[in-house]
Amino acid sequence: MSNTPSTPAAPYADVWSGGRTVAVVGASGHTGRFVVAELLRRGAKPLLVGRDRGRLDALRGLAPDAPVRVASTEDAASLDRALDGAVAVVNCAGPFLATSFPVVDAALRAGIPYLDVAAEQGVTAALFDTYGERAREAGVVVAPSLAFYGGLGDLLATAALGDWPDADEITLAYALDSWHPTRGTRVTGESNAGQHLVHSGGRLIPFGYSQDVFAWDFPKPFGTQDASAFATADQVTLPRHVRTPEVRAVMNLAPLRDIRAADTPEPVPADAGGRSAQTFAVEAVVRRGDRTRRAVAEGRDIYAVTAPLVVAALERILDGRGGAPGVRAAGEAFDAPDFLRALTPEHLTRVDLPL
Ligand SMILES: NC(=O)c1ccc[n+]([C@@H]2O[C@H](COP(=O)([O-])OP(=O)(O)OC[C@H]3O[C@@H](n4cnc5c(N)ncnc54)[C@H](OP(=O)(O)O)[C@@H]3O)[C@@H](O)[C@H]2O)c1
Repeated sequence: MSNTPSTPAAPYADVWSGGRTVAVVGASGHTGRFVVAELLRRGAKPLLVGRDRGRLDALRGLAPDAPVRVASTEDAASLDRALDGAVAVVNCAGPFLATSFPVVDAALRAGIPYLDVAAEQGVTAALFDTYGERAREAGVVVAPSLAFYGGLGDLLATAALGDWPDADEITLAYALDSWHPTRGTRVTGESNAGQHLVHSGGRLIPFGYSQDVFAWDFPKPFGTQDASAFATADQVTLPRHVRTPEVRAVMNLAPLRDIRAADTPEPVPADAGGRSAQTFAVEAVVRRGDRTRRAVAEGRDIYAVTAPLVVAALERILDGRGGAPGVRAAGEAFDAPDFLRALTPEHLTRVDLPL
């Protein structure tokens, strides 16, 4: 869709001084554009990578000085040329089933951090399973699913755990007032159909969406609403660093109805930053015996908020506040409370964490 996020000047951390270059694969996409805008805002130099020069050239208004490199995920040499000179790569090209592995391979060859925004649980699980040792050997951090689905819930659950070394159950509750899916979400939903997973009984097992509806008490302003079980990438990332047999997710019905309807329109910009009017609240509830701890985040536009999540993660990896080399989940790599608070109130309107 033709969303053009604006880029008000707000230079950030020293890590970007000298204008370090970050390759954004899938820069022409809805989420890719938010990531490019966020990099510019922080003082980084985005390098626009994609398979279609015309669509990359259309980003001139957003990033007039950014170099453009055309590359195909089926052509390793083109990816190597595209990443040449970059200090990191952020992959926003989904479905990730087609792009993750070739772009991670290229990042490892280049010896630079790889981050992506994948919502596909199976792809993220495969990255953890396949690339851990290679990433450690290459001295590179690979951080998949650093996004609304994947990163945010993982950070919230990690912050909620605090000093608990484990949990009997983690529940992630997602309340969205609506969900206007992008073309990429639709295509990814189709390619990912039947591939959903849930972490239960201490392992990832297939998850099937059902018609079961139950009442769930979401954080204000959503309150009690009809809800259904949901599948999210956080269910893959959390058990990689938190000992727990159960990670379940629930979502209110309104957004589920939206994405199931073929005629729900794409998101439209509603503010100067290109964000839509969509609002969300995400709550992580961790239970240990009969005690629970909670962490909540509220914000606006699940696609737009993905950009500060993944760029803040990259910033921390580059300035040494990220985890050791390897495939890393957000809550494992970063100081979760500090990370979440740093995004508030600019990108998350409210964050409530246990003291
Ligand atoms: N985890 C989360 O919370 C979260 C948040 C946001 C987005 N996402 C995921 O991110 C992906 C993109 O979403 P979007 O909304 O940005 O979609 P979009 O607007 O359709 O953009 C998709 C981008 O990926 C590129 N692309 C797709 N397949 C490719 C391939 N095989 N090789 C190279 N480039 C390819 C597209 O290039 P062309 O323009 O050439 O087609 C385009 O730049 C989806 O998989 C979505 O699920 C996840």
